[in-house]
Amino acid sequence: MELAQFIDGTWQAGDGAEIVDRSPTHPQDVLASGPAATVQQADVAAKAAKLAWRSWAGAPAHERAAILVAAAARLDERADAHGRELAREEGKTLAEGVGEVKRAAQILRYYAAQADAPAGEVFASPRRGERILVERVPVGVVGVVTPFNFPVAIPAWKIAPALAYGNTVVWKPASDVPILAMRLVEALVEGGLPRGVLSLLVGPSAIGQAIVEHPDVKAVTFTGSTGVGRALVAACGKLGKPIQTEMGGKNASVVFADADLPAAVEQVVLGAFRSTGQKCTATSRLVVERAAMGDVLELLGERLEGWTVGDPTDPATAMGPLVSRAGRATVVDGVATAVEQGAKMLLGGEPYDDDDVRGDGWFYPPTVLRLESTEPAVWRDELFGPVLAVLPADSVDEAYDRANDGEYGLSAAVFTNDLRKVTAAQESLEVGILHVNSETAGADPHVPFGGTKGSGYGPKEQGLAAREFYTRHRTTYLKAL
Ligand code: UN1
Repeated sequence: MELAQFIDGTWQAGDGAEIVDRSPTHPQDVLASGPAATVQQADVAAKAAKLAWRSWAGAPAHERAAILVAAAARLDERADAHGRELAREEGKTLAEGVGEVKRAAQILRYYAAQADAPAGEVFASPRRGERILVERVPVGVVGVVTPFNFPVAIPAWKIAPALAYGNTVVWKPASDVPILAMRLVEALVEGGLPRGVLSLLVGPSAIGQAIVEHPDVKAVTFTGSTGVGRALVAACGKLGKPIQTEMGGKNASVVFADADLPAAVEQVVLGAFRSTGQKCTATSRLVVERAAMGDVLELLGERLEGWTVGDPTDPATAMGPLVSRAGRATVVDGVATAVEQGAKMLLGGEPYDDDDVRGDGWFYPPTVLRLESTEPAVWRDELFGPVLAVLPADSVDEAYDRANDGEYGLSAAVFTNDLRKVTAAQESLEVGILHVNSETAGADPHVPFGGTKGSGYGPKEQGLAAREFYTRHRTTYLKAL
């Protein structure tokens, strides 16, 4: 299909170089193509968003909410079709793709429902005849930069609160997934979004930079790699512009010997290998109490025997390809380095041969590496692929120290039925999200999402936490004379 930009209320061609969106399963298949947006087009979009802002911010919150609800209904109706496109374009399985489209609809509805929530507080005044109103008001035009791995859910959880709270948006998605970006915009436009309120620009990183630095863009939200996130934080710091970033993760699951081991291993497998390990919340480290190591590795091996790798649109497939050649190269290099540094390959590790049907796509098998120490880089560096590094621990303290090792602090999971180990985890694991007896990924729309340490910067996303970022305070001293 033809890749189009959505700028100031119209679908149009970009003025930049050709973008070719290929299937990661069969890279010879072109799913969409068309010219990229240019920096000049980003400027037009930002100016249009500024122009549209007063009227949008001034509209009743319930009017804005009605548009989000209408868009959610369209996404729900089309969840099967869009989920299939998502699986073809990004490589996650059909079930995950359909689930993600429905999740985006749920997020839109959650933020629509915020129209009914209190918009601030009223305080007493120390002066007679006066009261003090503390309201939440929109910040203006928000720049949104999103990654490939959740092509519709992450954009939804940034764009929905931005719009619901009265901001307008200029959005640059990852150019690996333009089709799903276009689908989300279509749903919102059909839902009744006025001209200029949301523009979509698909293009190179220079477009993201132009959006972030544009004088009309008042705040920036980003999800993606730590390197890019930190560069954007620095750019916004210079400009005095608020920014929120969600970045890398190296999330550990800690399995203690007292846990329900088959249930724990099932969760570890889902956390490590769903979406081909391409989630910032994926389980990429497994710490096992030494007494349980033999059983856990055996269960892991048995479970992964049935973990079919193949075409993500085949309902029997458990895991599709990585998103791109570059994504797979990072995984191949990271695993090779791990082995050089002493990791023992327990499962997987070899890309598929050319004579395998998977040989021409960006496939990589589920891979388990056994380490003896935290020394190898794979214990700390995010590979963003289906690779799980396993280490034993001899005590609760050692297990949690190993989980805390490194710069990230997004999520962790602890598998135990011992309340003391749970409370110790709450006290010592340096993460934004802690799971007890469930896998490390997942984020419900109505609760805060985000990490600590190098995983995130600024206010958290989703739930009411999003309001911190998408609104500012206005304090009004109100007196009638
Ligand atoms: C999830 O775990 O379902 O980029 C969501 C990411 C995260 C979102 C994870 N920001 O993978």
